[in-house]
Amino acid sequence: MGKVFAVANQKGGVGKSTTVVNLAAYLGSRGKTVLCIDIDAQGNCTTGLGIKKKSIEYSSYDVLIGQSRIQEAIVRTEFKNVSIIPATSALAGAEIEMIDIDDRMNRLKMQLLTCRLDYDYILIDCPPSLNLITLNALIACDSVIVPMQAEFFALEGLSQLMETIKIVRTKFNPSLEIEGVLFTMFDPRLNVSGQVVEEVAKYLPGKVFETKIPRNVRLSEAPSYGQPVMYYDKNSKGAESYELFGCEILKEKPPVKKEKRGLFKRKK
Ligand SMILES: Nc1ncnc2c1ncn2[C@@H]1O[C@H](COP(=O)(O)OP(=O)(O)O)[C@@H](O)[C@H]1O
Ligand SMILES: [Mg+2]
Repeated sequence: MGKVFAVANQKGGVGKSTTVVNLAAYLGSRGKTVLCIDIDAQGNCTTGLGIKKKSIEYSSYDVLIGQSRIQEAIVRTEFKNVSIIPATSALAGAEIEMIDIDDRMNRLKMQLLTCRLDYDYILIDCPPSLNLITLNALIACDSVIVPMQAEFFALEGLSQLMETIKIVRTKFNPSLEIEGVLFTMFDPRLNVSGQVVEEVAKYLPGKVFETKIPRNVRLSEAPSYGQPVMYYDKNSKGAESYELFGCEILKEKPPVKKEKRGLFKRKK
């Protein structure tokens, strides 16, 4: 059965959608079948994976509201082994429309039961809020990946998220895990970066990913071409860092680069 990750942080612009798009592409390239679920009305993950809004028939809105079965909403992307349930702006009204629906916290979980067997990994791209839609993701998932920028006050947001996770654990999803905190747009030259990493590691021991994603212009350009960075510029720092992160998720050692192998031989 596929492992379900929610990629969540109630702060906007921290790299959630970028992480979903690029992790999905890497896992797919490694032969894993991946389903992305975009549950942010902005639809950044949808466009980042090259899906044109006009072409969308059913979206995550229809799935949450019960207007379509999950299978009907899944579309293949042009990237190896990666499918997506896209999001449209209709999702912005979903929370209010769901007020009258029974069991509204468990909508996504129930729908996912019917397709979990079809994928190795399911990645849910959450909105920048701790609303009902994000709760659906936290209840439906096995584990949470938290992208985060190394800034002052980062810890404040993190403790809020951890409180929510605690509540979800006690009331709805006792086996919910925290996969880890992924630092994005990371600049190791800044003092604050090291300080924040240290603080988060103290607050959540063993839960800071080894990989840090640097600020990389290729990563910010790729979505406007509807491509994950490894398809847009496979030699970029962005592609390399998401490859390392993918290996960490797969719990594999990162591959040794050809040029490094070459150096090693020459040294001998
Ligand atoms: N490592 C990075 N380097 C440079 N730009 C990035 C990086 N990660 C994300 N971005 C850019 O920052 C913006 C916010 O990222 P995004 O993934 O959309 O965040 P979120 O989904 O958390 O709101 C986007 O324009 C994205 O292209
Ligand atoms: Mg986003």
